[in-house]
Amino acid sequence: MKKKKIDKTPARLDFIQSASGLILGLFMWGHMFFVSTILLGKDVMYNVTRFFEGYYFFGESYPIIVTIVAGIVFFIFIVHAAVAIRKFPSSYKQYKIMRNHIKSFKHDDTRLWFWQVFTGFAMFFLGSVHLYIIMTNSADIGPYASADRVVSEWMWPLYILLLLAVEFHGSIGMYRLALKWGWFEGKDAKKTRDRLRSYKYAITVFFLTLGFLTLAAYIKIGIEHKDNVGERYHEQSVTVKGVQQ
Ligand code: HEM
Repeated sequence: MKKKKIDKTPARLDFIQSASGLILGLFMWGHMFFVSTILLGKDVMYNVTRFFEGYYFFGESYPIIVTIVAGIVFFIFIVHAAVAIRKFPSSYKQYKIMRNHIKSFKHDDTRLWFWQVFTGFAMFFLGSVHLYIIMTNSADIGPYASADRVVSEWMWPLYILLLLAVEFHGSIGMYRLALKWGWFEGKDAKKTRDRLRSYKYAITVFFLTLGFLTLAAYIKIGIEHKDNVGERYHEQSVTVKGVQQ
């Protein structure tokens, strides 16, 4: 008798979703720390920017490096979204059934799953706008250039929404990954879940606080710099592929 082959595609898709989510989640934690260096002063953020442009390796800044990295992140972001879309309710009827189920079921993790789907949907649009702008304006990252983008180029409303979406989505995602793959598993499943949930809560509060303080710092600089939009920050003169920054 011919043996029926097991279709491994769903398991593979699940793995791709977890792996891409983990990469994006870890990237995001790093990203929040780098962007928040503005809280330590303009010079610190300026030097971090130069570091990512390769200045300390090549003696010159190459913003194309940031474009390439942002392009890779964008690719992983699209793959993650493409495999996640199969979990979305595909009709109003399905959505209604899911909502009623969540209401009657009163299960916290099912509710968290709903918020993950909702914030993920929002990020299709919000994340894409940010990534595309960063990719195509990688030479314009710095204390003044970023603050001008936030205030004078009206990115702050998008950043408020994106920050909320990414922090909730990311911390719920990491929590669900830890549960699904059994990371940090203790002897008592209920205790493990409670512990992971309290970590998730602490991470969300931490990154939202850091994120909003960071955004406030860019808004403050952007308002102060409103009359000089386009002027770049100078700690010392740096050459960006022949252009003075
Ligand atoms: C390599 C890829 C990325 C780079 C180089 C990058 C760079 C930056 C920079 C320089 C800022 C400061 C504001 C500005 O200059 O406009 C910023 C802010 C922000 N980015 Fe990204 N970003 C990247 C990917 C992402 C992704 C994938 C997300 C989420 C989907 C994201 C979410 C945010 C949020 C929410 C803010 C505002 C944070 C705050 O002010 O607290 N970024 N990013």
